Amino acid sequence: MSVEKELSEYAAKTARSRTLHEEALAVMPGGNSRTTTFFDPYPFVIQRGQGAHVWDADGVDRLDFNGNYTSLILGHAPPDVIKAVQEAAENGLSFPGPTEHEVRLAEMLTRRVPSVQSIRFTNSGTEATMNAVRLARAFTGRPKIAKFEGAYHGTHDWVMVSVTGEVKGAGSRRRPKPVAWSSGLPPAVLKHVVVLPWNDADACAEILEEEASQIACLIVDPIMCNAGLIPPVEGFLQRLREITERHNTVLIFDEVISFRTAWGGAQERFGIRPDLTTFGKIIGGGLPVGAFGGRRDIMDFYDPRKGGARISHGGTFNANPVTMAAGIATLNALTPEAYARLDALGERLRGGVTRLLAATRRRGQVTGLGSLFWLHWTTEPLSDYRSTKAKDSAAAMRVFIGLLNEGILMTQRGLGACSLAMTDEDVDRFINALARVNARG
Ligand SMILES: Cc1ncc(COP(=O)(O)O)c(C=O)c1O
Repeated sequence: MSVEKELSEYAAKTARSRTLHEEALAVMPGGNSRTTTFFDPYPFVIQRGQGAHVWDADGVDRLDFNGNYTSLILGHAPPDVIKAVQEAAENGLSFPGPTEHEVRLAEMLTRRVPSVQSIRFTNSGTEATMNAVRLARAFTGRPKIAKFEGAYHGTHDWVMVSVTGEVKGAGSRRRPKPVAWSSGLPPAVLKHVVVLPWNDADACAEILEEEASQIACLIVDPIMCNAGLIPPVEGFLQRLREITERHNTVLIFDEVISFRTAWGGAQERFGIRPDLTTFGKIIGGGLPVGAFGGRRDIMDFYDPRKGGARISHGGTFNANPVTMAAGIATLNALTPEAYARLDALGERLRGGVTRLLAATRRRGQVTGLGSLFWLHWTTEPLSDYRSTKAKDSAAAMRVFIGLLNEGILMTQRGLGACSLAMTDEDVDRFINALARVNARG
């Protein structure tokens, strides 16, 4: 079935969402507040979520492998988290001062992630990476930052460079040029962002060493969660750690998504100790959140006792008790057994998809780690952002809409996540639905 046929089936199932979208267009550009969740002709309006399922405004039930872009590791409305939220809310929604909930969540995170000696909360992952980058500049006195081509770190100016988009005109593979990912970025941004190729340690070393005296930090999502979930090749992250350490460049691990892959995050899986780490998504239990933390000597720039904080960090809703309570309840549920279960679900899904693609000779492959997976519609070996660009650029969208028609939700670009609310049968349902979508494609 062509993408047009999949879309017309989608439209037939989502009449009320279309009406609501038309109403929304009158008051919001694009009809919503998240560019990343929009898709043509309109995203369905979500009414309710429970466990592994979401229901839309037309009452259509879908198995949710999106999980609010990987935030809902326990599934929708888990009873213990809802109870914690209710109890916190009954005592007041937000305060002009710290709460015990904030201290407890900070303790839980610093215990899980030994490189994080000291931490602060924000309302989003974007604010977390924005603060981490600012902190690195303050600490080193250097102006530039380095990031990987294809990596997404949120929506502040400094990281909206070389995220998605065409690689034509973006320099060579070994020397990517910074490309603005948004209009409205001041030209100074492109002059201060150095872009690196994933999984090419020698190329990274050359670039980082050439500009070492200017580069404050290297921000790295250790598994490229938004650029195809391309695992680092053996020794790659270790090389980055070694180079950054030698040049006193602050190494920031952006674990906004990858933290969900282990008790202590991806840094535990790979045995790397970054200087700073950013968090988001699961640590707020489904409510708005972010956090950044790391070496105490660096985080001290935020300590107002030491002659006035050298970096000001306000935020009316930072560390609000409702979010903190939801985060505590979520982390309490994430026991070692829970991670083993999440890994098993992810492995079952990746194994099933790999067998399906081999049996049907479909040009595709699946990558991922732990509970995360990414469907690719290319058989080229995957090593970096450029290699993930499928020749058939419509394939991901056709599969996304086709799966929606099968009652399965994932993300438009191919990222998906299993949650603890899922069963083996749910995973098998995904694989069987994908088989049907591919068979008609
Ligand atoms: C790796 C990474 N960093 C930062 C962010 C930004 O987080 P938020 O959407 O909470 O601003 C995201 C969001 O998807 C992310 O995946």
